[in-house]
Amino acid sequence: MAPVIIAIDGPAGSGKSSVSKQAAREKNFGYLDTGAAYRALAWASLNLEGFGLDELDSKDLNREFDYSISIDPDNYWVKVGSKDITEAIREQEVAEFVSQVARIPAVRTFMKSLTHKIVAESGLPGVIVEGRDITTVVAPDAPVRILLTASEAVRLKRRSAELSKSAAASVARQVTERDASDSKVVDFMTPAPGVQLVDTSDLNFNQSVSAVLALIEQGLS
Ligand code: DC
Repeated sequence: MAPVIIAIDGPAGSGKSSVSKQAAREKNFGYLDTGAAYRALAWASLNLEGFGLDELDSKDLNREFDYSISIDPDNYWVKVGSKDITEAIREQEVAEFVSQVARIPAVRTFMKSLTHKIVAESGLPGVIVEGRDITTVVAPDAPVRILLTASEAVRLKRRSAELSKSAAASVARQVTERDASDSKVVDFMTPAPGVQLVDTSDLNFNQSVSAVLALIEQGLS
């Protein structure tokens, strides 16, 4: 049987990665971070020959972008070819560039088929797939579709909790800028029809996980 998809979208700092990961652990499902593939392609664009921004829309990414990612919530890694880029894709250079890659239509089409391929090959009963357009474009027929959000103030606070004051101000600027730029491509702030909104502004981590698990149980029963 094909694995079931639990689709979770949300903006940066909504807690969607950590909440999705924990929900996956509790369900023995896979966890797929789709943003990592956009970041990996941005990394490739910055570091590899033939992946320039203007080359991406005519490139056969299925054949030429040798991407792999772990969907084990307890052992996360991302590779291009044999190179481990788990850390590299979190660097500022990639974070600042990735929106430009994500807005190329051919890239988005490729990412959709890549996501379905990874899920289909998982060998698991289900995969929690998190991103920006999973509930709307990638898996609009998923039995559970959730938009996880939080007020901007809460999201910025979560992102900067462990940073110095000046670093926090710079992170705040980055998150706000990236949301603004990403939201030109996909609307991930308002739930599409049939998508359930979980606002975590007033929920702690465990409460957020419980809210998501309850919706999963409800959707799968
Ligand atoms: O979730 P993240 O910050 O790692 O995402 C990286 C970038 O990829 C971000 O700029 C938004 C984009 N993205 C997207 O457009 N669609 C997705 N499903 C996931 C991420």
